[in-house]
Amino acid sequence: MPFVERTPLIAGNWKMNLDHLQAIALVQKVAWALQDARHDYAATEVAVFPPFTDLRSVQTLLAADKLSLALGAQDLSPHESGAYTGDISAAMLAKLDVAYALVGHSERRGGHGESDETVGLKARAASAAGVVPVICVGETAEDLEQHGAAAIPLAQITAALEHLPRDAEFVVAYEPVWAIGSGQAATPQQAEDVARALRERLRDVRDDERAAATRILYGGSVTSQNIAGFLGQPNVDGALVGGASLKADEFSRIVQFKKHVTAA
Ligand code: PGA
Repeated sequence: MPFVERTPLIAGNWKMNLDHLQAIALVQKVAWALQDARHDYAATEVAVFPPFTDLRSVQTLLAADKLSLALGAQDLSPHESGAYTGDISAAMLAKLDVAYALVGHSERRGGHGESDETVGLKARAASAAGVVPVICVGETAEDLEQHGAAAIPLAQITAALEHLPRDAEFVVAYEPVWAIGSGQAATPQQAEDVARALRERLRDVRDDERAAATRILYGGSVTSQNIAGFLGQPNVDGALVGGASLKADEFSRIVQFKKHVTAA
């Protein structure tokens, strides 16, 4: 595989938390903490994924203060426009400078019955509008027992990528469902084993170059205490952080994982 330097991505998935005023306050605090720490955004990319109703406010703040955080959305419609009450299109997100969109988060797959096909179509819609899809995959505790760790994530990514043009950029987030919000993170080795298998699959369904360039994130109970262990793995290129992304100090410590690599 050709050697490609992948820029780590630390992404904060706020889920259904914080109104637009609270969102502004949190982004300001994170930005200040990272400024104090002289964070190099080119070396480690930082993105926040607020609820839809916060996006415009956060976009305005990022632009006004020339902050280098990227903006992400937690979901989007697979459709371009039209009679889809309650849905938000990729074009609407792109207009707000949204750079990334989560697709297939386990809380959407589980709570909203999203199929692999829907996830793939959402990824395609995002990509067509210039928004990079962050395709979330992961096994439940039951899956883990029945099929091992990698089988379900591999099937999910393969099915989703069938709908995405071959040359489209995307990010993969491996999030074991049993690790999300449970305080029980995977071990760095568990994350690495699945990330490596996912990268091999990307080589099969895309090519060496895409496999080498694509960032694979780990998500599930990531904290400042365990982040360095994950990012120390060769195939883990960042983290999708839920609960810990709602605390400015904790999230900025996670972003600065390189400073506490020795603490892992
Ligand atoms: P958590 O959530 O960090 O709170 O476990 C991660 C996620 O669901 O993206």
